[in-house]
Amino acid sequence: MFGESNEVFTPIIGGTTAQDIKTGHVANLLPGKNFPQRTTIMKVATVSTLWDYINRAMPWNAPKSLSTDQVYSVLAYLLNLAEIIDTDFELNQDSIKEVQKRMPNRNGMVMQDGLWRVDGKPDVQNTACMKDCPTEVKITSSLPDFARDAHGNIQMQNRVVGPVRGADTDMPAPKSLDEARQIAQKGHDAVSGKPAAQAPAAGGVDEAAAKKLLGANSCTACHGMTNKLVGPAFAEIQAKYKDQADGLAYLKGKIKSGGSGVWGSTPMPPQAQLSDADLAVLANWVLKGQIK
Ligand code: HEC
Repeated sequence: MFGESNEVFTPIIGGTTAQDIKTGHVANLLPGKNFPQRTTIMKVATVSTLWDYINRAMPWNAPKSLSTDQVYSVLAYLLNLAEIIDTDFELNQDSIKEVQKRMPNRNGMVMQDGLWRVDGKPDVQNTACMKDCPTEVKITSSLPDFARDAHGNIQMQNRVVGPVRGADTDMPAPKSLDEARQIAQKGHDAVSGKPAAQAPAAGGVDEAAAKKLLGANSCTACHGMTNKLVGPAFAEIQAKYKDQADGLAYLKGKIKSGGSGVWGSTPMPPQAQLSDADLAVLANWVLKGQIK
């Protein structure tokens, strides 16, 4: 492990120089540099952000499992790879102040945006409207067709609280605001537990129920429909097991207990929260569903 990354995530370390450590500005971020990628250490301005992120979110399959000392150790290791600290530097709550003075992008934090100051220039250009606003709103951006369903139905993965519903990526992009509203309402009903409109398709595959479970259990954060992400694409899994006699029982067990070694060394976390009925819906969909 050298802070590099597999194909999904941005590398953590790389792209900074000893000169950046002196100036606090990362030269590779300058326009015209065309550096191929922005690593974490190029962008992050405050070392406390890294500490906090590792402490709360890592490792991704067991967040909050590291002790305080372990968080300091992992962070020290990364900082050493970035040549910000020497191998014998002892990182702790006092010495971390010294590290902040050496963070390559410490002076690169953007402060001039409208969000930082009340009188700042906002990044949107529309005229503010609080009453009698025009009712016809033109939708000018949507996901391109080829990408719409790449992460499952985005709408099913949104919270039921608040107005944001996300796009129903099982459907073509809406042409008008009205159409978008109708689709959003349908998605809201589905997520909030009202019975889904479509009946299960032939062959016992309940597409709607499966899609809902995929979203609610974040399966699609790691599995694409046809593209490999952290885990294999559902289409690849289907191709591997669709003719296997004990496929259904095997996949139910694997989804429930997780594990690694079939597609690579990255583990799939166990899904103990799923009932036997949910496991059957999911496994059946993986084997026989319309995955595209
Ligand atoms: C944190 C990432 C992650 C999440 C979340 C996740 N998976 Fe996986 N999944 C993986 C990885 C990685 C593998 C490959 C494991 C292996 O190589 O044995 C995998 C493998 C699988 C397999 C194939 C098993 C095999 O032995 O061939 C199925 C089926 C599957 N996942 C379904 C699901 C379902 C359904 C969900 C949601 C309930 C889900 N996964 C959630 C990462 C994830």
